[in-house]
Amino acid sequence: MLRIEVITIFPELFEAFRTTGVLGGAIERGLLELSAHDLRRFTRDRHRTVDDIPYGGGPGMVMKPEPLVEAIEALAGAKGPERKAHVMLMAPQGAPFTGQRARELAREEQLVLVCGRYEGVDQRVIELAVDEEISIGDYVLSGGEVAAMAVSEAVSRFVPGVLGNPDSTASESFESDRLEGPHYTRPVEFRGLAVPEVLRSGNHAEIARWRRERALERTRSRRPDLLTGGEER
Ligand code: ADE
Repeated sequence: MLRIEVITIFPELFEAFRTTGVLGGAIERGLLELSAHDLRRFTRDRHRTVDDIPYGGGPGMVMKPEPLVEAIEALAGAKGPERKAHVMLMAPQGAPFTGQRARELAREEQLVLVCGRYEGVDQRVIELAVDEEISIGDYVLSGGEVAAMAVSEAVSRFVPGVLGNPDSTASESFESDRLEGPHYTRPVEFRGLAVPEVLRSGNHAEIARWRRERALERTRSRRPDLLTGGEER
């Protein structure tokens, strides 16, 4: 079973997250575990300090190495070929997180997601204790917590049994290298906008074709980079 451990100075952010929605249901059903660990538990000074000023000067603070390395080693053991856990630092400098990476990570036994705060993390933490740095997009968050939630959710969807219908990952955006098209539900007309006739036709071949076309159109205009491998797949 997949165990996700998060290291953060804001463990309370994960309380509602881990009991809500698809992820909450999966945890309740025993398909995966998610625990948030307070980094300050791994400090030794009276003020429970997790950051310090940067060598070389500059703005902001840097996360100190001692509490982070101790927290990671307490949860995952020392870095090396013996270690079973995969330790990931959430960082805007990381490699881009993708659906493909989520699918691979779902096969791990234990993921340790380390959330940075402040300007960054002492480089020695990365060298001594982290296996992979990962970014969820080209923007800067104030901390890695939202990124850790994004990774946890995306990974959990690939854990067998988490989604009721095994098809639902297959047709979704990025699982088929193109964006999903539009969806409609009742009422058939809302504020003067009608549901496209074809979706009400009952003609499943026509519906499938319409959906493929809309998906392709949307992908061409919003994400042409996804289509470089041949559009008629
Ligand atoms: N921490 C701050 N910004 C981030 C990002 N874009 N991805 C992952 N972790 C982050």
